[in-house]
Amino acid sequence: MNILVTGGAGYIGSHTCVELLKAGHQVVVFDNFCNSFPEATRRIGQIAGTPLTLVEGDIRDRTAIERALRENACDAVIHFAGLKAVGESVAKPLLYYDNNVIGTVRLLEAMQATGVKTIVFSSSATVYGVPQFLPYTEDHPLSSTSPYGRGKLMVEDILRDYHVAQPDSRIALLRYFNPVGAHHSGLIGEDPQGVPNNLMPFVTQVAIGKRDRLQIWGGDYDTPDGTGVRDYIHVEDLAVGHVKALEHLRQPQCFAVNLGSGRGHSVLEVVKAFEQACGKSIPYEIGPRRAGDLPAYYADVTLAKSLLGWKATRSLETMCADSWRWQVANPNGFRV
Ligand code: NAD
Ligand code: UFG
Repeated sequence: MNILVTGGAGYIGSHTCVELLKAGHQVVVFDNFCNSFPEATRRIGQIAGTPLTLVEGDIRDRTAIERALRENACDAVIHFAGLKAVGESVAKPLLYYDNNVIGTVRLLEAMQATGVKTIVFSSSATVYGVPQFLPYTEDHPLSSTSPYGRGKLMVEDILRDYHVAQPDSRIALLRYFNPVGAHHSGLIGEDPQGVPNNLMPFVTQVAIGKRDRLQIWGGDYDTPDGTGVRDYIHVEDLAVGHVKALEHLRQPQCFAVNLGSGRGHSVLEVVKAFEQACGKSIPYEIGPRRAGDLPAYYADVTLAKSLLGWKATRSLETMCADSWRWQVANPNGFRV
């Protein structure tokens, strides 16, 4: 297939492009590089041993997307493009709704105009809100606590409505848990700008000496060691999940599925695993809880297995080892 990958130069998109190329698909990356670098796309080609097409553009520019879809005879879209900092979304809600929600509407208009019926969307476990039970199953009630999360929920609703109006559309809503790690080659990985919001990139920066210590946000949660529990998933496993979702979209349908490992790890477990991987100690201090954080959540992964024949295979140790390899080989990320 010829696949347009919006946000394909970003963290999850770049790993997915590698898996798509390996599976024999043609890839067109459509990205405005607001949170990524063209160098990532060169490295994708290097890993896969086959080049991809790069189009610099913004998903809110319907004409540009239409042109990219037509000129490359695209059969499907994988839609990663979006802003993802939960805290920033509270400070700049209009920016988030414009980029993430209106941008998706423009993309769907361009797909409709060009007859492209297949879309895989990057949703998030954040659409489940406060857990009413765990693990989260796909039929857990949906709610959200930030403009970022509400945007994800709105786009899910828009895609469900679109499928009702266009029953021949083929739509996958992939609810990611916590993607971490990097490609085992050490060539691509997560390259956050400024101070990382997320745990794993912060820990790698402490390990390499860019930051003094990790602040653990809360040590008094009702969890086995008092620190927050999340379902971490290796980004290469997540990337394979997209290829499987695309294969499953041979028939018109609209489905939502969790992509996680199915088990939770605490912040302290992640710190210990990372210390093993890098052979250094990670200084930390336990601070107050971070506003908006949930104590614990993890995925029920039964549906992913039965529907897509997919499950995560890489351990927390591998996630840490691969994050470390990427960090050591690329202390300045893609800024070469
Ligand atoms: P990322 O920031 O590394 O990648 C997003 C890419 O989209 C970047 O390359 C950026 O330049 C591009 N982009 C943003 N707005 C654009 C626009 N208007 N037009 C064109 N390109 C644009 O983020 P990521 O971690 O790879 O996340 C990818 C998707 O997965 C996002 O939609 C995110 O919300 C979702 N997601 C991420 C996580 C996570 O923890 N990383 C968890 C759940 C869901
Ligand atoms: N944490 C720390 N110190 C840090 C960073 C994080 O202790 O410096 C803790 C958090 O409190 C939490 C855990 O590490 O307990 C994981 O935090 P992350 O920020 O890495 O991830 P979140 O679970 O908060 O959020 C992620 C994505 C969101 C997405 C959400 C649900 O960043 O975009 O998963 O999918 F909405």
